[in-house]
Amino acid sequence: MKIIKAKDYQDFSKKAASILAAQVTLKPDSVLGLATGSTPIGTYDELVARYERGEVDFSQITTVNLDEYKGLDKDDEQSYSYFMNKHLFDRINVDKKRTHLPDGMAADPEKECERYEKLIEEIGGVDLQVMGIGNNGHIAFCEPSTIFEKKTICLDLAEATIEANKRFFDSADDVPRKAYSMGIGTIMKGKKLMMLVYGEGKADILAKALLGDITPEVPASVLQLHPDVIVIGDEGALSKFPEC
Ligand code: F6R
Repeated sequence: MKIIKAKDYQDFSKKAASILAAQVTLKPDSVLGLATGSTPIGTYDELVARYERGEVDFSQITTVNLDEYKGLDKDDEQSYSYFMNKHLFDRINVDKKRTHLPDGMAADPEKECERYEKLIEEIGGVDLQVMGIGNNGHIAFCEPSTIFEKKTICLDLAEATIEANKRFFDSADDVPRKAYSMGIGTIMKGKKLMMLVYGEGKADILAKALLGDITPEVPASVLQLHPDVIVIGDEGALSKFPEC
């Protein structure tokens, strides 16, 4: 596991964007696994800046996102599909037909999970998967549990997640209660994983995940078992890692 410490949010975002840009330069038809949330917004802004300067060409990439709220249409401003278009896809030369998220409006959730899992296999798996960590240790929407979910699932969001994500909605009541999420098994099949963690508020859970026991009670702890993980954190997030 490689841990990279950033000075501030700008430095953090540039470091993450550099790794994504290097991936696309080395393999122009990379499959990028992407995440939403507050943490990667600066990374996406930085990728857009590099695209505008002619430094990166995204025309051949394919993307798959970690998750999507169930019950939200892709044009709903709170959907992750909308988020990705707004922060990244509408601003770079990606072929929109090759950007994928679970369909929050799918009529049959079980079939939708199967479709998404199969799609990831068919496009050859994820070359570089970006992710954040929830305050409760979740990755994607895989919440603390008694098992590591193997495949894409439709699941209930934890109260802690509803509480954390209500800042994007008018009230906690408006946060969808269910979401589609890649499973831990799906994420672990990614060839390279990059976890982005910003702010002191994540220091305790990050230390628990990476230095503590490997347990589905702390889903991100599974990353300890992956052979190629990069963690980018700022000084606050990494404050419980004395060696950094
Ligand atoms: C989002 C996702 C989530 C977030 C996590 C951290 O696609 O999968 O696991 O990465 O909740 O969110 P922020 O960055 O808002 O702290």
